Amino acid sequence: MAAVSIRNVYKSFGPVKVIQGISMEVADGEFVVMVGPSGCGKSTLLRMIAGLESISSGDIAIGGRVVNRVEPKDRDIAMVFQNYALYPHKSVYDNMAYGLKIRGLPKDKIEELVQRAAATLELSALLQRAPRELSGGQRQRVAMGRAIVRQPAVFLFDEPLSNLDAKLRVQMRAELQALHRRLGTTTLYVTHDQVEAMTLAQRMLVMNQGRAEQIGAPLEVYTRPATTFVAGFIGSPPMNLIPGRIEADGTALVTEEQAQVRLPRSIASLVGRDVLLGVRPEHLEACDEASALLTPMINFVELLGSDSLVYGYLGGDKRGVRLAARLHATSAQAHDGALPLRFEEQHMHLFDPASGLRLEA
Ligand SMILES: Nc1ncnc2c1ncn2[C@@H]1O[C@H](COP(=O)(O)OP(=O)(O)O)[C@@H](O)[C@H]1O
Ligand SMILES: [Mg+2]
Repeated sequence: MAAVSIRNVYKSFGPVKVIQGISMEVADGEFVVMVGPSGCGKSTLLRMIAGLESISSGDIAIGGRVVNRVEPKDRDIAMVFQNYALYPHKSVYDNMAYGLKIRGLPKDKIEELVQRAAATLELSALLQRAPRELSGGQRQRVAMGRAIVRQPAVFLFDEPLSNLDAKLRVQMRAELQALHRRLGTTTLYVTHDQVEAMTLAQRMLVMNQGRAEQIGAPLEVYTRPATTFVAGFIGSPPMNLIPGRIEADGTALVTEEQAQVRLPRSIASLVGRDVLLGVRPEHLEACDEASALLTPMINFVELLGSDSLVYGYLGGDKRGVRLAARLHATSAQAHDGALPLRFEEQHMHLFDPASGLRLEA
């Protein structure tokens, strides 16, 4: 096993700057998820760690050794891709054994490693099957098995579950976590799926346009997003961001359309300033008019069963600020038109509208 250091790493393809100065220390045995929208540079960063792409500047170290110029095969890593093509004419056993044979390991050692990985992945009964005789989830486990038998210091995963259906993805997520608990191998995992990131990561690196927006534990990132980008990317539906100015004694925000949001606590330090007020849909609650902090006009309700997503506008007409709230199904049904809502102080976020950075106040 090994720690991984990413130190001020840049990558350009010709004039195109794809990675723009990312640094992160991944501890030995840690499970880190790199998450961000498609095209933000996740695969490029992972491929640089694997040695499949050169580094334009900066250093990558694995186990304390700078590997910038070390061949992929000498980096002690194993990578699993989204398209985990198995050899169609080889058995499960031979698919898993192949890499070890190439490296000239003795037959009995190969047998031991394959059997152990197969037991870990519950593939023991399937070793003589051909890939076409397996389900999608089983094939993905064989691809994982190929990585495990090599006993690498670091696992690199690039969207390994993206080709599976939703139910199987949930199951494989649980299996990946169990596998990590058992093996304790340092793991870097790339996904564009924020739910996958939240559920798998010990720490996550949220990426946007080749930069690190935030590095932190999932709950920390969810409760204290560092930027409006992170606030919008982590959580579904995304956090409501209400632009406005902090008025009077710091107890209210007023939008351009003169709609008012009362604040759950006074923020005197920001009086007169333009801000973005952030509240997650799941932190808005229906309430009576007297205790309302904001009162959007509701124009659309999605019934989800246990709860409902309620959409509306703050400021009356449709030019106002859009809002979403996740409410108990009963409170959503009871209201039509103007809906008084409140939220707790600890669920209030403030951001600078120019920089997008979180404001502490
Ligand atoms: N070999 C390449 N040559 C030129 N541009 C590339 C190359 N590989 C990736 N890119 C560009 O770099 C950006 C990031 O790509 P990628 O790392 O694959 O993103 P992600 O994995 O986050 O979707 C994209 O704009 C992509 O078009
Ligand atoms: Mg990718």
